[in-house]
Amino acid sequence: MTIKDKKAGIWITGASSGIGKAAAKEFARVGSNVIVSARRISELERLNNELSVEKLNVNMFPCNVASYNNVDQTHKKIINDGFSVDCLINNAGISSFKKAEDNSINEIDDIIHTNLMGAIYCIKAVLPKMIENGGGTIINISSVVTKKVFTNSTAYAASKLGLKGYTDSLREELRKYNIRVIDIIPGATVTSMWSSEIRKVNSERMMTPEEIANVIVWTYLQKGNLVSEEILLRPIQGDLE
Ligand SMILES: NC(=O)c1ccc[n+]([C@@H]2O[C@H](COP(=O)([O-])OP(=O)(O)OC[C@H]3O[C@@H](n4cnc5c(N)ncnc54)[C@H](OP(=O)(O)O)[C@@H]3O)[C@@H](O)[C@H]2O)c1
Repeated sequence: MTIKDKKAGIWITGASSGIGKAAAKEFARVGSNVIVSARRISELERLNNELSVEKLNVNMFPCNVASYNNVDQTHKKIINDGFSVDCLINNAGISSFKKAEDNSINEIDDIIHTNLMGAIYCIKAVLPKMIENGGGTIINISSVVTKKVFTNSTAYAASKLGLKGYTDSLREELRKYNIRVIDIIPGATVTSMWSSEIRKVNSERMMTPEEIANVIVWTYLQKGNLVSEEILLRPIQGDLE
């Protein structure tokens, strides 16, 4: 089977909850072949159970993006199952809202390896075939920490700003291959990334994962010569302080 015979798919990392899960559902609703990854297989199964009510489904490929071997093996499985990755959505991410002196080295390693290296590993895995295929889309779920300085976010800010640097440079390299590199930059969104206390107090003024998912799908569907390189999304009332 040549790459042209494969089913073009949207590979979403971190699709077991929050923004990634909402995006997986929305892509399934518009008829895409959706490939979902996360570490919790039971939550990916729950996603498929929820979609079965709408007679839809996604293709599960569990993966820990913090391990290059795991990412590489998962990508090989995706290809062997007859898919090509037309769109990679680097969404898997973690945070810990702590002061720098309170963050353990393990916590910092986990944040950098998931948010920054995980996204780079996935890009490295899909890139050769995307180039061979004549184009594609890479969407990073970035954060408002790349636009504004927040305290208690040092490792998280380093991971997201590191990814911004990597992809700003990558975007220029990939123009000639017809590969679009897009940063979606959300502010506060009601997901399990925030503690239940913060959600309880602020959920009314935060954005929903479904709202972010709609923008992701809409951005992917834009074709022709236009590319929305950076999309900043904030709650109407602004950031949580
Ligand atoms: N919520 C916000 O306010 C907000 C704002 C700006 C940006 N973001 C970004 O949005 C993205 C999604 O976060 P969310 O808010 O939707 O939070 P979430 O509900 O906690 O979702 C995070 C997802 O990442 C996955 N994940 C974590 N570590 C992983 C790993 N090592 N390998 C594979 N998957 C992993 C989790 O699945 P498993 O645990 O099953 O692996 C989960 O599906 C993140 O990149 C985050 O930085 C969120």
